[in-house]
Amino acid sequence: MKYVRMPIEVESPEEQGYDTIRFNLSESSIRDRPLSDLRLKLDNLVLAYGAHRGSPQLRTLIAERSGVSDLHVLTTAGAAGALFIIATTLLKKGDHLVVVRPNYATNLETPRAIGCEISTLDLKFEDGFALDVGALEKLLRPETRLISVTTPHNPTGVALDEPRLRAIIALGDKRGIRVLVDETYRDMSFVPKPPVAASISPNAISVSSMSKSYGIPGVRVGWIVCQDVDLLERFLAAKEQIGICGSIIDEEIAEVALADAPRFLIGIDKQLRHALGIVEAWIAGEKRMEWVKPQGGCVCFPRIRADAGVDVEPFYKELAKRGTLVGAGHWFEQDRRFMRIGYGWPLEEELKGGLAAISESLAAAAR
Ligand SMILES: Cc1ncc(COP(=O)(O)O)c(C=O)c1O
Repeated sequence: MKYVRMPIEVESPEEQGYDTIRFNLSESSIRDRPLSDLRLKLDNLVLAYGAHRGSPQLRTLIAERSGVSDLHVLTTAGAAGALFIIATTLLKKGDHLVVVRPNYATNLETPRAIGCEISTLDLKFEDGFALDVGALEKLLRPETRLISVTTPHNPTGVALDEPRLRAIIALGDKRGIRVLVDETYRDMSFVPKPPVAASISPNAISVSSMSKSYGIPGVRVGWIVCQDVDLLERFLAAKEQIGICGSIIDEEIAEVALADAPRFLIGIDKQLRHALGIVEAWIAGEKRMEWVKPQGGCVCFPRIRADAGVDVEPFYKELAKRGTLVGAGHWFEQDRRFMRIGYGWPLEEELKGGLAAISESLAAAAR
């Protein structure tokens, strides 16, 4: 494995220091929650090793939400841990896979670290970042091992509808290629949600976590759902070699948060729609920017118009002067005219302040 740190991690707010940022529009989750929000009683929790597959109660909650049985669920250290386990289990040096780009960086970087041959399916702004299943099919080879997609998508917020998701899974089924669907943003959706991918076929593997929709990324709880129990057993072997089991404190917290999901997510949906409305109104009045309106998640990926007469590097310097952080295009292997704006994390005044700072920086960087 050849590990290289990814810009999205090196330049992340937690690495820069939250206190150095005034308007943080770089986050890809809802606001982080304090422990007191969950009203937990942890004093009597025995600090033993946990069940290797994950806490039984937590797995039941995940299984119920995914339309599968508990036997098909394995908890992991975040969705990031799940993606690592899946890539290192399924792929070896020289193996071919197809990955959507842009993407959450790990989906590309771990196969790269393994030394895989990657064909990227590049989503285009001009196509509304829509995934073209025909174009995906053209990238497949007889030796392709994995198709890797993300929905709702990070950084664009564009979601796969059910026919398209089923078509991708059917392609994998027909050709004997595993299909990884990163569904980390699944519980934040403004359009009808397709079923959890892993409930559609034993060949599909779903990944999600408590980080984004539940605002508790600090507990590091994610999961893999897969109906192929032999494959899940291999994922378990990887998990055991990495860390034996998950943290039982983390899993206890995740269980309480997930049990409250039906109530909690209603409030989150309301907040997200309100925040998205603020971004939409800003974009409508900011003629130097253009976007594809997201269908889910809590991020969007607008760009500075090519004819806006704005110099990109001075723009980012001006933005930094105003204490504002966005996810610049290079975090996603894209032109820096693009920027990911997270609208779910900032408080309303911070979001408005950050958007105003972008407008001021565009004006200041005008040729
Ligand atoms: C699409 C996607 N997958 C996975 C992750 C990893 O999340 P975590 O490990 O916190 O669950 C992220 C984080 O940004 C993400 O955006």
